[in-house]
Amino acid sequence: MKNDSSSKIIPFYGGIKPKLFEIERRCMDRKGKVIEYLDERLPDGLVLDVGAGNGFTAEKLSREGRLVLPMEPDEKMIDRSKNLIWCNGVAQSIPFHANTFDAMYSTWAFFFDGIKDIDEGLSEVERVVKDGGRIVIVDNYGDDEFCSYSPNDITSSVDPWVQRGYEYEVIHTEFIFDHVREAKELLTFYFGEQGNQVNTTTLEYKVVAYTKVLSKSDR
Ligand SMILES: C[S@@+](CC[C@H](N)C(=O)[O-])C[C@H]1O[C@@H](n2cnc3c(N)ncnc32)[C@H](O)[C@@H]1O
Repeated sequence: MKNDSSSKIIPFYGGIKPKLFEIERRCMDRKGKVIEYLDERLPDGLVLDVGAGNGFTAEKLSREGRLVLPMEPDEKMIDRSKNLIWCNGVAQSIPFHANTFDAMYSTWAFFFDGIKDIDEGLSEVERVVKDGGRIVIVDNYGDDEFCSYSPNDITSSVDPWVQRGYEYEVIHTEFIFDHVREAKELLTFYFGEQGNQVNTTTLEYKVVAYTKVLSKSDR
């Protein structure tokens, strides 16, 4: 029987198709522009990664003075070979006391267009992050080669984030595959037959980062 928390998990393929997820994580943002962006903006102290996947980003952002806690609800995603302290939880119900974290980020997880309880997740994030702490949410910006292969709209809408008081920046990065066949394998999985039309190893990819410094006194 499902408990309350598991019913709040958005299904993700990574745990059941690890080879494809390995291609995704290795090739998307291969030059590390998103990591660089986050690294420059996140403070030292305690930082929460919501929907951390296999801990790829949390591992890269960890450094002396900055402890990044990856929170991931899907047991199959967790990579215990990484030197990380894993936390089991969902965005809608974050298992920490109020004002615990100096900052929080989330990369391509939970905060997608059309998720009905996105504001429940955001209020949880704003509860556990301290006054003056930064929140960064990363998603697809669209208007790029990568998204042009999708038959559906997989881009994030900026306006609702601006209305919630977030600023945004576009990070220009790329998917860089080792072979065209690798690009075809991943894009066909994502997008069906349209993905099979890819004929290059490098795809322009625009990423949006929504960011806000919390001011709890405004409430
Ligand atoms: C697209 S993956 C992104 C993983 C990682 N952030 C990255 O950049 O590689 C989305 C992750 O969010 C997790 N997830 C699903 N439902 C969630 C929820 N309600 N709250 C937090 N994370 C969730 C999934 O298990 C999956 O690992």
